[in-house]
Amino acid sequence: MSRKIIIDTDPSPDDSVTFLMALGSPNELELLALTTVGGNVSLEQTTINTLKSLELVGRVEIPVYMGADRPLKRALITAQEVHGGNGFEGYDLPEPTTKASEGFAPDKIVELVMDNEPNSITICAIAPLTNIALAMQKEPKIKQRLQEIVIMGGARSEGGNVTPAAEYNIYVDPEAADIVFTSGTPITLVPLDCTHKALSTDARLEKLRAVGTLHMEAFYHLLKFNRIYDSEKMDMDGGPLHDPTTVAYLLKPEIFKSKKVNVTISKDYEITRGMTVIDWWGKMELPLNTNVLYDLDSEAYYDLVIERLALAGG
Ligand code: RIB
Ligand code: CA
Repeated sequence: MSRKIIIDTDPSPDDSVTFLMALGSPNELELLALTTVGGNVSLEQTTINTLKSLELVGRVEIPVYMGADRPLKRALITAQEVHGGNGFEGYDLPEPTTKASEGFAPDKIVELVMDNEPNSITICAIAPLTNIALAMQKEPKIKQRLQEIVIMGGARSEGGNVTPAAEYNIYVDPEAADIVFTSGTPITLVPLDCTHKALSTDARLEKLRAVGTLHMEAFYHLLKFNRIYDSEKMDMDGGPLHDPTTVAYLLKPEIFKSKKVNVTISKDYEITRGMTVIDWWGKMELPLNTNVLYDLDSEAYYDLVIERLALAGG
């Protein structure tokens, strides 16, 4: 039986690759819903980008619920310098003909978790964690009822991509991240230490393009644009394909290396705002609340991405 998942997202292209990969894996994953949040771009634009991506592969039956337009306590910080003005620079997808479904994302997360069997719903969180934290505040029971939350975010020894200390998804809403990491829900975290080893190199992008379908052509151009910022600013041979690591972990955990440790979120000092303090050697004797994926077989990862993205349209 396939694993039931909800993906909370703020599309730039790596987000869309994530949920399209899930749609390309119907024997292993059942995507119940997508929930959108303000992040890389505004909530309105992340929702449009989500709808556009689903329409590109003809999967408009997947419900999309809009959530928070800003963090719990802070102003929204977007990432247009990385992903372009609309978050989808590099290839013009037509405006969506569909709309988001009725309902506030945190309420829908609570409803789906409470209406399904205990320990049967996994959330892939690939954006600031505001919607997840709001859902936990609305109905604390979901903390114990969720099977797992797989989060793309944070950094250990790699350092941050927004500040030297913090990765974007955690930096934007550290208060939400703190609620999630102290919830007691089983968490798997994919930090930059792992995703910076999963680069969209030229060779991999050409392999993706060679599939030859319209949506693969679109993502070839979108991921090519996506590499400009990271390769220039962070001297990389391609843009890191961050978010699909969460679905790849659910599909093939064996291509990752992991360690159970304590992760605590810094939120009080500006210089360490949003830092994931990862107690790798157990110095603090705190609860081992997170399974951190610190390495991956990047070739196997990218082959999986291409294989399942290609199947997104069914
Ligand atoms: O730091 C990487 C994260 O920020 C990814 O989720 C990417 O989509 C951006 O949201
Ligand atoms: Ca994201």
